[in-house]
Amino acid sequence: KVVAVIMVGGPTKGTRFRPLSLNVPKPLFPLAGQPMVHHPISACKRIPNLAHIYLIGFYEEREFALYVSAISNELKVPVRYLREDKPHGSAGGLYNFRDLIMEDSPSHIFLLNCDVCCSFPLPEMLEAHKSYGGMGTILVIKVSAESASQFGELVADPTTNELLHYTEKPETFVSDLINCGVYVFTPDIFAAIQGVSTQRKDRANLRRLSSFEALQSATRSIPSHFVRLDQDILSPLAGKKQLFTYETRDFWEQIKTPGMSLKCSALYLAQFRFTSPDLLASGNGTRSAKIVGDVYVHPSAKIHPTAKIGPNVSISANARIGAGARLISCNILDDVEIKENAVVIHAIVGWKSSIGKWSRVQASGDYNAKLGITILGEAVSVEDEVVVINSIVLPNKTLNVSVQDEIIL
Ligand code: GDD
Repeated sequence: KVVAVIMVGGPTKGTRFRPLSLNVPKPLFPLAGQPMVHHPISACKRIPNLAHIYLIGFYEEREFALYVSAISNELKVPVRYLREDKPHGSAGGLYNFRDLIMEDSPSHIFLLNCDVCCSFPLPEMLEAHKSYGGMGTILVIKVSAESASQFGELVADPTTNELLHYTEKPETFVSDLINCGVYVFTPDIFAAIQGVSTQRKDRANLRRLSSFEALQSATRSIPSHFVRLDQDILSPLAGKKQLFTYETRDFWEQIKTPGMSLKCSALYLAQFRFTSPDLLASGNGTRSAKIVGDVYVHPSAKIHPTAKIGPNVSISANARIGAGARLISCNILDDVEIKENAVVIHAIVGWKSSIGKWSRVQASGDYNAKLGITILGEAVSVEDEVVVINSIVLPNKTLNVSVQDEIIL
């Protein structure tokens, strides 16, 4: 049997996602009309003999309850949310629930970060992992040398694929091959995490007995329960024939900011053409709006037939799009109203917001820039004929004059 674990973090993580993470935990924020965590979860469907999917995080249990029960029914695989009382780090969180995870006696455990966007080639990784015969296999990808330093950089043996060297977010360039945050392990991973945790406890005890100042300050900061997968496990195990790599040549992005969520929505909408074509709006039928490229529309949304939508647009539940409106590259959340002839380009429009007649809400579309997309928080009201460019508007504001390059607090 196989078990999959998705690390979802908690409210102290994902702060770069504000103001959108003020309403909903970042893992439940919609990309291509589905919660962020839905994409890795539905990729798990392809794993043979999958017994359980666990989400591990330190958000309140009730925030995930509805989603977890709905998705369990839909996939016909039990999905459970496991809550840590405090952050234990990416490996410590997994270790915390080892007894539960081992109840199915899995031969393999997948571990996925929830904030990555890729095609999740999980069955292919498992096959490769079995052929290597190690303790773990890491999904890796080549990126540009300039961007590599934001990730774990690694060196792999070109013929055996063994992980030879691993450095987390190094200051000087090591390699353009990076860690995608998707892993498959044998249950031996628990012994490896236990090893780090015991070592920490021993050092802490030594510190209590010792008056040696240098040793004290070097080990004081990290408690023994806190174990990071990258620094504490991958780095020391590199070059020991236990860890291997599987390189993807498909798409991969990390989702730390709202701008990147818009880029990743586009990638997932494009993937729906192959995986879930039924989720893409067709634009067929005489009463339908004009659809351009990949577009998701929730069945409860109401779109006027003279509106023009796409490419890369997601429209959530109960949104209303008026006559002559034009939407390009944007994410329209629940209960939004966009009135006649408004234009929305490169923007995220928060829950219950409204955009007035002839208004424009737009941005340059530079997904990596702070103000590269325009974001309206929850219940923002843009009045008629107002233009909002490259701006972030916090929840509950009313805009009756035009703004550009501003953060409206
Ligand atoms: N449950 C739980 N508890 N989850 C956690 C905790 C924790 O204490 N700490 C982090 N996570 C989750 C995050 O929500 C995220 O999904 C994942 O673990 C990794 O988060 P970080 O440890 O903050 O690392 P990162 O995202 O900056 O970088 C990691 O992922 C990159 C790929 O996206 C590293 O492993 C990099 O090497 C890697 O390139």
